[in-house]
Amino acid sequence: MNIKNLINEYLGDTELQFIRILENITKGKEFKVYLVGGLLRDIVLGLKPNELDIAVEGDIDLLIKLLSDNCSIIQETEFKTFKLKYMDIFVDIALARKESYIPKGSLPSITIASLQEDLSRRDFTINALALEIYPTSSNYMIDPFNAIKDINDKKIKVIHADSFKDDPTRIFRAIRFSERLSFALDDETLKLLDQDKNRIAALTPPRILNEVVKIIDEIYPLPILLKLQKYNIFSHFLPLEKEINVLFENNISTISNWDYFILYLSKHIDELTFNESMNRYPISKKTRTFINNAYNLRRIIKEIKNSSVDRLSIEKFISLEAIIQPSFDAELCLSSPDEEEIICDLILRLSHTKVLINTQDLINLGIQKGKNIGKAFKELKYKKFQLTLKTKEEEIKYIRDSFF
Ligand code: CTP
Repeated sequence: MNIKNLINEYLGDTELQFIRILENITKGKEFKVYLVGGLLRDIVLGLKPNELDIAVEGDIDLLIKLLSDNCSIIQETEFKTFKLKYMDIFVDIALARKESYIPKGSLPSITIASLQEDLSRRDFTINALALEIYPTSSNYMIDPFNAIKDINDKKIKVIHADSFKDDPTRIFRAIRFSERLSFALDDETLKLLDQDKNRIAALTPPRILNEVVKIIDEIYPLPILLKLQKYNIFSHFLPLEKEINVLFENNISTISNWDYFILYLSKHIDELTFNESMNRYPISKKTRTFINNAYNLRRIIKEIKNSSVDRLSIEKFISLEAIIQPSFDAELCLSSPDEEEIICDLILRLSHTKVLINTQDLINLGIQKGKNIGKAFKELKYKKFQLTLKTKEEEIKYIRDSFF
């Protein structure tokens, strides 16, 4: 395998430019620099990698200083990992390190280590490849765990038996990679996964959320979600009785796949349980708004189904008005045909609620400034929603008839 050719073929121009800069600025300095991880897995597979991952043995602070003329530092951690931005690409650079998980399942403590040790602390054999780019611009893959064989055999295999115990998020990763790449879980790995999967319960909610978000960000999330359900892992995220059948391809562009997925789940889990579960997660204000809107809208739809849209109270109408358009769009995609009809009618009615008379008209009609003006507008809008007022004259007549 000619690695250099593969690198030239599968990395973009900007990535190759960055590697050239790295080679130039490291000349004569005392460190070793390697490409590592998923990037090498992907190019061996003939895929375009997502991100550049680099490991360094030596003075990483000096390396980052040297790079800072060409890149901006986006993130820096106490563990000597850096996220850099070069032109329009992101690069992860980390000091080669060992990790110890005490207690198991917690975030690791990190100590400086050799590349060999760095590779052996990783999750799966297929992610434990390295390629030296300085001091030698090597054409040989460093492959201590037979990653290339496992990539060719399409196998996901842990590097050591404690891998899932150390870091149970790797259980999500194993399933994600296996579905994304169409790789099988090696028998021993599957046994370990089954044996250790209850340890997911000890993960903090943000760590579980992070893994689920990564799954939803995949091109084909559904098969991964179904596997998580099959292995009784999904329930660690949210309690869902029925089989997930979310059709991401039905989603519209005004809402992210993540929000769409959450709304799908909220439709199939009762409100109390859903909110209690979601409260454990650091989800964005936007997602919370979508959830609240969805429940409000569903309550209104239910009421309309049981009675009629004309009987909707003014309070319900006001809460309906507060619902943002993308929430209607998402609900339309997630609804049955009869609900769809109700939603379309609501959207149409809401588009007619623009009042034609203005504040001055109301004052001229004798409405006193202050609260009364607000009340008049609210009622006018409500009547317009009920399709009982259309023209400006009808609005004026309504004010005359009902306010005096
Ligand atoms: N890694 C690990 N254990 C984890 C997370 C990451 O051992 N829980 C290691 C793996 O060697 C992985 C590397 O860190 O290849 C980088 O992590 P990440 O960017 O999440 O993995 P990629 O394989 O690059 O994933 P993707 O293809 O989705 O970018």
